[in-house]
Amino acid sequence: MSSLLAHAENIWQALVPRLPSFTVEVLPEIDSTNSELMRRAREGLPEPVLLVAESQTAGRGRLGRDWHSRPGHSLTFSLGLPMAPASWSGLSLVAGISLAEHLHPEVRLKWPNDLWLQERKLGGILVETASHSGAVTDPTARRLVVVGVGINIRRPEAAALAAPAAGSGATVSPVPPAGLAEVLVGVTAGEALERVAAALVEDLLRFESGGFAGFRQRFSRLDALAGRAVRLSDGTDGQARGVDDEGALLVDTGSGLRRVTSSEVSVRPC
Ligand code: BTN
Repeated sequence: MSSLLAHAENIWQALVPRLPSFTVEVLPEIDSTNSELMRRAREGLPEPVLLVAESQTAGRGRLGRDWHSRPGHSLTFSLGLPMAPASWSGLSLVAGISLAEHLHPEVRLKWPNDLWLQERKLGGILVETASHSGAVTDPTARRLVVVGVGINIRRPEAAALAAPAAGSGATVSPVPPAGLAEVLVGVTAGEALERVAAALVEDLLRFESGGFAGFRQRFSRLDALAGRAVRLSDGTDGQARGVDDEGALLVDTGSGLRRVTSSEVSVRPC
């Protein structure tokens, strides 16, 4: 906790000139940092906030899955930012790009937003948005974007993997997850947070003013699926061909390029 607090203070110092109402909170335990920021959003549009928890009792992953993490062995936080971009397409990819670039040069992004290290899952991102009551009738109004991030610091051990409370998501994947300490020996959750937090805010603000197009090239340098055989969740086989200017995955199915958006399908290398 004390190590997280020291890093939280550095992050606040770095960001407050840019976002004067920015706050950083570190909690020993909460149900889910995403759930907490979404609750706050429903009560009114909150100010920009970074909420870090040492431990979550009801962490949530994508597609309605649970997210399990072990205190001291993982980093769990959510960043809440009020935003009003012209288009929301590509937002979650931007978060993944920013995190992957700043964690370690070996980290890759498996579309749409799994962080990968040496072909194994290192972490995940859950992006949610909430509008305050006045925004319901105004599509240009700011919404609170909640970017929730879970990163394994230590690789979950075999014993932990056998139980459902494994280090990287609810299901026990056939490939064991990775830990950042494999490539950054001795790294702490606080150090990992400090590597990524300010850059994540800057990249989200850049996205708000310029959209996803400017991030496309950055994605291509991190793209774990590029040129690989993939199978879409509807059973279609193809080859991944990067993303378009809106962050949709392009898949060559043999009968043309298919545009895949994250809400439609999941993709896994086959
Ligand atoms: C995934 O399914 O890969 C996304 C996992 C996101 C987990 C993080 S941990 C911090 C934040 N709070 C949550 O409840 N979920 C996200």
